[in-house]
Amino acid sequence: MSGWPNAVVVGEVGPRDGLQNEAPIPVADRIRLIDALSATGLSRIEAVSFVSPKAIPSMAGAAEVMAGITRVPGVSYRALVPNVKGAELALAAAVDEIEVVVSASETHNRKNVNRSVDASVAAAGELTALAHDATTPVEAIVSTAFGCPYEGDVAEGRVAGIAARLRDCGADQLSFGDTTGMATPRRVHSLLDALDEVGLAAPEVALHFHNTRGTGLANVIVAMERGVTRFDASIGGLGGCPYAPGATGNIVTEDLVHMLDDMGVDTGIDLDALIDCAHLAQDLVGRELPGQVMRAGPRTRTVAS
Ligand code: COA
Ligand code: ZN
Repeated sequence: MSGWPNAVVVGEVGPRDGLQNEAPIPVADRIRLIDALSATGLSRIEAVSFVSPKAIPSMAGAAEVMAGITRVPGVSYRALVPNVKGAELALAAAVDEIEVVVSASETHNRKNVNRSVDASVAAAGELTALAHDATTPVEAIVSTAFGCPYEGDVAEGRVAGIAARLRDCGADQLSFGDTTGMATPRRVHSLLDALDEVGLAAPEVALHFHNTRGTGLANVIVAMERGVTRFDASIGGLGGCPYAPGATGNIVTEDLVHMLDDMGVDTGIDLDALIDCAHLAQDLVGRELPGQVMRAGPRTRTVAS
């Protein structure tokens, strides 16, 4: 049909971005969720973060989670880190990929990781070298890339400038986080334009949307039409950011895959297995999740008349 890619890579972030915003659940339950997700055909799972347990109590025990999961060949188990110490711990846990996060907004970066953007970029360079010594790839995530809950709009040129610095530090991939769901289709276009100007073409970037204001899947469509083929999502719509007032979950993995299946965009993921994972996630956190397909069922599922 109209300019959609044949295939996209869906990165599951529920076990980290999702669960970090929930009351802590036992390590064994986190392992159960990751193992269930790894049986669906997902190829990238953000499993844990190596961060201060004082900052994010629900991510304590990351090394135990990594040691307890059953690694499925072909699945990349990824860990988010804020600093060099986090990268050292992640490498010791033999993660497949490190994600280092830097906010585009100075205020959000200070609240999130207690340092300036410049200091975070410098740390990203240092830890990327460390990871590469261990032949572990690094994805740099620019968060608050579509706006900041404290500062409001963040100029696209600033986001692109930080991304270019992270690329120059050796980051293997770049991702842009809509940390608090401020992206709209128009802003997806303008960020992709700004990235183009620093030599980052759409097929090279990943996008991470939150559905805080209901624009998540619309943003995905626009981005796909621009050539983006990597998107994060969280199972059942688990998620948020503890340092971002009003933040809610990521776009919902099974809702995204359901839409892409019908558009003929291949994800390699089994939708029914994902829906089972969404119910598992809901049971584990003990609250109703915002996923819609998990409740309504796929559009192909008819009811007896
Ligand atoms: N993993 C585990 N512990 C860490 C750590 C890491 N990556 N980095 C630092 N620590 C520990 C230190 O060892 C120290 O421990 P101690 O109090 O027992 O001595 C403590 O945390 C404070 O260290 P410091 O370097 O002074 O950090 P800080 O207090 O300035 O906090 C961060 C900075 C980055 C560690 C903290 O803000 C953080 O973990 N933020 C992550 C936030 C996040 O995950 N947000 C969501 C993702 S977008
Ligand atoms: Zn997020």
